[in-house]
Amino acid sequence: ANAQRIFSGIQPSGNLTLGNYLGALNRFVTMQDSGIETIYCMVDLHAISVWQNPDDLRRQTRELAAAYLACGLDPEKSILFNQSQVPAHAQLAWLFNCVARVGWMNRMTQFKDKAGKNAEKMSLGLYAYPALMAADILVYKATHVPVGEDQKQHVELTRDIAAKFNHDYDVDFFPMPEPVIEGVATRVMSLRDGSKKMSKSDPSDMSRINLKDDADTIAKKIRKAKTDPEPLPSETDGLKERPEARNLVNIYAALSETSADNVLREFGGQQFGQFKPALADLAVAKIGPISDEIARLMNDTSQIDAILGKGADRAANIAEPIVNEAMEIMGM
Ligand code: ADP
Ligand code: NA
Repeated sequence: ANAQRIFSGIQPSGNLTLGNYLGALNRFVTMQDSGIETIYCMVDLHAISVWQNPDDLRRQTRELAAAYLACGLDPEKSILFNQSQVPAHAQLAWLFNCVARVGWMNRMTQFKDKAGKNAEKMSLGLYAYPALMAADILVYKATHVPVGEDQKQHVELTRDIAAKFNHDYDVDFFPMPEPVIEGVATRVMSLRDGSKKMSKSDPSDMSRINLKDDADTIAKKIRKAKTDPEPLPSETDGLKERPEARNLVNIYAALSETSADNVLREFGGQQFGQFKPALADLAVAKIGPISDEIARLMNDTSQIDAILGKGADRAANIAEPIVNEAMEIMGM
């Protein structure tokens, strides 16, 4: 039987949001104490599927590493590294380009969302992105992939690729990785539109809280967040048809590491005029120290670079034998 292993990644493109923090970073850090090996990656090869300014990409990659560390990632407990520094990811991705089918890629909703009407003009890399993501996961034979709701379809495709590889070459080589999507913050929504996820690529900065926002900006964004005129209900059932209210309650619950029910036990019956300032105080208390620590770490990036160098060596030690064996299975 394959040993359990956790893998996940985040793109070093743009500013990190509260969605990335609650849906990814914070959960990744919690998992490093689960007793299962944890491997986390800055996926710069994914980031360049859309043009990146080279200096910005270099800075954002270090900033993302700083964010992992600021959120409590311990480089002794977890492997933290930069995808492009471990060539086995790109190697296995090519093998998977030859296993995956064009029809499978055509069903990926994220490509359709990102490309819109311009599919013909997008990079081939953006289209093939899910095959690289499958390689990221399977090059470690990872079994558990903590992600937000938006990545579920890509993890399912990873399973399809693993199954087809195993079938085509009559082996039991790759495991079937499971997406781990749990908690109240797997889909943090935009503050301006309860039907869209909070995203670093949303053109409206008021739609998201960035980890780099200062206290006043965070308070202002929450004060201006779209809501309805009703008071908060006393049970989560009452949030069903109220996506904006539900989002703010879920954010509060995730930040205070409790359930939405508990939040409503405290705030049920109150108006947003009372709830929003409490949420703003909580967000500032949680995010402020993280952004301060990111800034401190970015003052001297040699520490970050040393951690990433060591992480890449450790990652390569696991990945290289696996990709070599995959090539051998295929006849190379
Ligand atoms: P983004 O979608 O912001 O460009 P990535 O694609 O790099 O960020 O995603 C990094 C991780 O953050 C993924 O696990 C993704 O599911 C998670 N994530 C991104 N946005 C949200 C959100 N609004 N709510 C919950 N998780 C999110
Ligand atoms: Na995403």
